[in-house]
Amino acid sequence: MPQNVYVTRPIFDEAIDVLKKEARVSFNSEERVLSRAELVDRLRDVSGVVALTTDTIDREIMESLPKLRVIANVGVGYNNLDVSAATSLGILLTNTPGVLTETTADFAWALLLSAARRTAEADAFTRAGKFKLLGVQEYLGHEVSGKTLGIVGLGRIGQAVARRAAGFNMKVVYCNSQPGDPNETHDNAMELSFESVLRTSDFISLHVPLNAQTTHLLNDRAFALMKRNAIVINTARGPVIDEKALVRALTNGSIAGAGLDVYEREPDIEPELLTLRNVVLAPHIGSATRETRLLMCMTAADNLIAALKGVRPPNLVNAEAWESRRS
Ligand code: 8YV
Repeated sequence: MPQNVYVTRPIFDEAIDVLKKEARVSFNSEERVLSRAELVDRLRDVSGVVALTTDTIDREIMESLPKLRVIANVGVGYNNLDVSAATSLGILLTNTPGVLTETTADFAWALLLSAARRTAEADAFTRAGKFKLLGVQEYLGHEVSGKTLGIVGLGRIGQAVARRAAGFNMKVVYCNSQPGDPNETHDNAMELSFESVLRTSDFISLHVPLNAQTTHLLNDRAFALMKRNAIVINTARGPVIDEKALVRALTNGSIAGAGLDVYEREPDIEPELLTLRNVVLAPHIGSATRETRLLMCMTAADNLIAALKGVRPPNLVNAEAWESRRS
């Protein structure tokens, strides 16, 4: 008997086809996030769900779904899922690491260069027909080459961002939430304390997962430590930055700019951010290339099918749940 699988939002047909080979698949064909009640209702009889990072699946929802065996998240981040609840209930959780590393690093750089050289502002200016004769001191940006890049969280994506800095002759400094292994070396990157990264960097790019320790990691105190010319880039998760503190730092000149792909209360954005010229804003598209999004969906489908077949999924997040998994 094929098992039931649900997909919470539209994904690539190729990934649906992979699921259909092994399971009876239903999906939400509307581009909207299902409510809690809808999720519970639609997942009642399913063994596996392909979820997007916009789906919050907490303990209460998991407890109401005794048949659920696996949640395959389309994304490397999984802060939308309650890991400890899933583990205690024997529900396997998977994510899609690796396939989006380079694409997300590219986008962090797109925001960095755009914030430094004011491309969004310049685009709006040009489209408005304002390009007549520009003075030699107009539209001045921030030099990137030769500056210091600070990486907060030197995981897969942080390392990919750091590698790209070599092409700009930048000095790279980094910190991790756990102090690194002293024997571990990273070409061209020096480990410092979090405070020293903030104090010394011209550009600060965030690559930590969202958890209790990283929520509001960048707050008023952190912004006060930064250089006045610092530009902050966030392609990780919105709540890593206290958005109101960021607005204060950007308006009082304690930092120079920001490039944001993620927000504290997505898709809502702190209204004042929309009025500031020294921020570049994007709608959470760090992994958005056709190639990468397809690979993410295929990876999620493969993870889910493996779990349903009783094979350990390649990207199991909660390894502890494997022994107590539901059958
Ligand atoms: C989203 C992301 O998953 O991978 C992550 O953690 O945040 C993104 O890549 C993507 O927008 C699909 O929902």
